[in-house]
Amino acid sequence: MNILLLGSGGREHAIAWKIGQSPKVKNLYIAPGNAGTSNAGTNLPIAADNFEGLKKAVIDKDIDMVVVGPEDPLVKGVYDFFKNDESLHHIPVIGPSKTGAQLEGSKDFSKQFMMRHNIPTAKYLSVTTDSIDNGIAFLQSLEAPFVLKADGLAAGKGVLIINDLNEAIAELKNMLEGKFGAASKTVVIEEFLSGIECSVFVLTDGEHYKILPVAKDYKRIGEGDTGLNTGGMGAVSPVSFADNLFMQKVEERIIKPTVEGLRSENIDYKGFIFFGLISVNGEPYTIEYNARMGDPETEAVMLRIKSDLVELLEGVAAGNLDEKSLEIDPRYAVTVMLVSGGYPEAFEKGKVITGLDKVQDSIVFHAGTTMIDGKIVSNGGRVIAVSSYGNTKEEALAQSFKNANIITYDKKYFRSDIGFDLK
Ligand code: AMP
Ligand code: GLY
Repeated sequence: MNILLLGSGGREHAIAWKIGQSPKVKNLYIAPGNAGTSNAGTNLPIAADNFEGLKKAVIDKDIDMVVVGPEDPLVKGVYDFFKNDESLHHIPVIGPSKTGAQLEGSKDFSKQFMMRHNIPTAKYLSVTTDSIDNGIAFLQSLEAPFVLKADGLAAGKGVLIINDLNEAIAELKNMLEGKFGAASKTVVIEEFLSGIECSVFVLTDGEHYKILPVAKDYKRIGEGDTGLNTGGMGAVSPVSFADNLFMQKVEERIIKPTVEGLRSENIDYKGFIFFGLISVNGEPYTIEYNARMGDPETEAVMLRIKSDLVELLEGVAAGNLDEKSLEIDPRYAVTVMLVSGGYPEAFEKGKVITGLDKVQDSIVFHAGTTMIDGKIVSNGGRVIAVSSYGNTKEEALAQSFKNANIITYDKKYFRSDIGFDLK
């Protein structure tokens, strides 16, 4: 079969790598892809949210399935675009409908969904300019720190955690006045939960589901989880505290009611669900949903899926995921992200990357790279993900760090303490 994968980051390179291993695949296309995905398939210069452009490519290339990597096309309704187009509706899109993607696209929607289905999450109140007084009263009823979230997509920057009440009230006003544009016209105020986080991924056909390997990502730029938030600096799978008992609670209290809730509300959802969870003294709470896989978690999780991913995706499309098997590699898999100096603030692009051919016993996924004059150069904040297996977390990390040092470019930076807080 011919598959079209949408996106251009490390997550998409990892998915392309895994799809490319399937004997079922004849041609794999990636739109728009990056310098790395062009080794796993053929890049098409079409933006992932250019639906008319995608339509033309799907027809021209005789595509049998579309797999969506990032949230943007999902929130913009790529699933519905295909479903409602006569020449496309027979082609499965792996990813939720526009309404399903609201689990990620609107924090207010996702909180209301969790309330309707009794899914454990932090106490909250959604506030607009008209209800700001209620918002201030709610903040006053909470203990510090205070959590303020822009309702809409804000490129991972829309969450503020503030220690001082007066500052929180001032930021609430700023957000409602457009600090994050339209995304913060509604603000979700939340109770702060204290614990350790992990990312749980589920593949669902809307009725059945498979739980993929659990991962933990490291979001802050600095060692010891300090400094600004980034898209993610590395990931480890499995996660020691997400043991059988914890995962049983996650499945019963969070995964089952989510999948069942989507079904009972007739929300089309055939794709990945990312549960951002926090363990508060061993009890799981949902911090957020995403309508896609995590990045960089995918660059570790894909290594641990032994089964044919395409076979599983076919199960998603056909609604018989329960008949497919999911085999997990018991080894550790980790990824270490090499980023551009300065990231997540201003950074330079176009740095020539060398040493990629010297990497041994790691799998290199490209995040922000492109080809210029036959050379691979940096093209984003997150540049390269170095993924490795190991019988222990330490073994896997040592391998990734070794190769992270072999790959070079001007102002390269990576965190050398990924996994530091796990047993
Ligand atoms: P979100 O975009 O909702 O995942 O929030 C980004 C990050 O903020 C999360 O990964 C958490 O580290 C933190 N966070 C969000 N909500 C809460 C909360 N209610 N309590 C504690 N930390 C939170
Ligand atoms: N690694 C977190 C995310 O993909 O949103």
